Amino acid sequence: MQVKKGEEYIVDIIDNGLDGEGIAKINDFTIFVAQTVKGEKVKALILKVNKSYAFAKAIEIIEKSENRVYEDCSTYRRCGGCSLRYLDYDTTLDIKEEMVKNCLNKFKLNNIKVKPIIAMGNPFNYRNKLQYPLGIDRNGNAIMGVFAKRSHEIIPVENCKIQNSLSQQVAKDAFEFIKSNNISVYNEASLNGTIRHIIIRIGVITNEIMLILVVNDNNIKKEKEFVEYITHKYPEVKTIIKNYNTKNTNVILGDKNEIIYGDGYIYDYLGDYKFKISPLSFYQTNPVQTEALYNKALSYASLTGKETVLDLYCGIGTIGIFASKKAKQVYGIEVIENAVKDAQENAKINGIKNANFYCGEVENILSDVIDKNNIKPEVVFVDPPRKGLDNKTIGILKELSPQKIVYISCNPATLARDLSLLQEKYNIEEVTPVDMFPYTSHVECVSVMKLKQIVKH
Ligand SMILES: C[S@@+](CC[C@H](N)C(=O)[O-])C[C@H]1O[C@@H](n2cnc3c(N)ncnc32)[C@H](O)[C@@H]1O
Repeated sequence: MQVKKGEEYIVDIIDNGLDGEGIAKINDFTIFVAQTVKGEKVKALILKVNKSYAFAKAIEIIEKSENRVYEDCSTYRRCGGCSLRYLDYDTTLDIKEEMVKNCLNKFKLNNIKVKPIIAMGNPFNYRNKLQYPLGIDRNGNAIMGVFAKRSHEIIPVENCKIQNSLSQQVAKDAFEFIKSNNISVYNEASLNGTIRHIIIRIGVITNEIMLILVVNDNNIKKEKEFVEYITHKYPEVKTIIKNYNTKNTNVILGDKNEIIYGDGYIYDYLGDYKFKISPLSFYQTNPVQTEALYNKALSYASLTGKETVLDLYCGIGTIGIFASKKAKQVYGIEVIENAVKDAQENAKINGIKNANFYCGEVENILSDVIDKNNIKPEVVFVDPPRKGLDNKTIGILKELSPQKIVYISCNPATLARDLSLLQEKYNIEEVTPVDMFPYTSHVECVSVMKLKQIVKH
């Protein structure tokens, strides 16, 4: 039986998929039913049919899971951020553990132990980075909010449950000022107008705020008054930056920054260490869970002080700096130049003398860094972006053969793929999921691999 768009079917939800959505089968044909959970029976309306699967929404919950909860956010269904907001926290954690197991199973890695997920004590208001697009609504009025899922329609957000509360207040006030002073905002249809995004980054320990206005041109009317208004109302705002993005693109930030207030950066603490954060640098968005993640990664590395350590995809040097106390020497590699500068300065700020950071793509400069420093690292941390490791890097790692690889990943699908490629040389001991992004469908993982010993007869 072929399912048809617009038709309704009564289905049992038998599992949850990689985006948290419920999975049902009609004669072996897969139906992804948004916002449903394993164990439920629902009436599903088919929205889109592809060759081997279809998307549907539940129009009636016939047998409801006892793990469903009151939905405390009016926008989550449309914004797609917290796609698991309809479930109690423990169930979201179970789904994430299952997701990791399913990804490993796809690569026949069923033998790898998946440890219980490291949950967050208070899984609310945890994000230290907010990015709200600005635009023009149907009535021609300026609007700020979040993009609706898979679209560029902006939906206003009353109270986001996962963003930092102070960041939300600053963003709202910044927008009110923009609106009431008729400051031009970007119009995606005509590609005209000035302000495209408001970004707020906050150091949750220091309470220092960076406000970034992503602009399409340099015509901010009343720029000086804006700066005065915001910094007077919020002394926490330490720096304001204009970031130029004139391209018709989904990428939020452009390459060029202009500081219009303060020094262009903020500080925050992770554990005992102080970190400088620049506008373009990656910095983990949930600092509480980041500490838990790094501590787990470090315990997996079990450093003794004698090891040479690589921190690949190092961002502003956070993992390497955490490891430096227990390592002989740390070498970090990162592609964003400003992040490398921050990493070098972060080492200095924290009085660390045994960490060096290099700028470039891991796949292109790793061999040079090794040759130039004449090193044979015992432990390698890798923390790549969602697409995971490329084949060249995997080849170099196999050749290098460090005793341990600690793999930190924000995408269990690419983690599983890469583990399967490394298992020829490595025993993969276990994977620990970490709930870095509560109530969203995302899950972070940290895994440890030990070099297989060649038995000589
Ligand atoms: C998931 S982040 C991890 C950053 C850091 N380890 C942390 O915990 O904050 C991945 C980092 O890899 C960098 N990156 C992406 N592709 C890269 C490449 N091919 N070579 C080096 N760095 C890269 C990104 O700029 C980003 O800083």
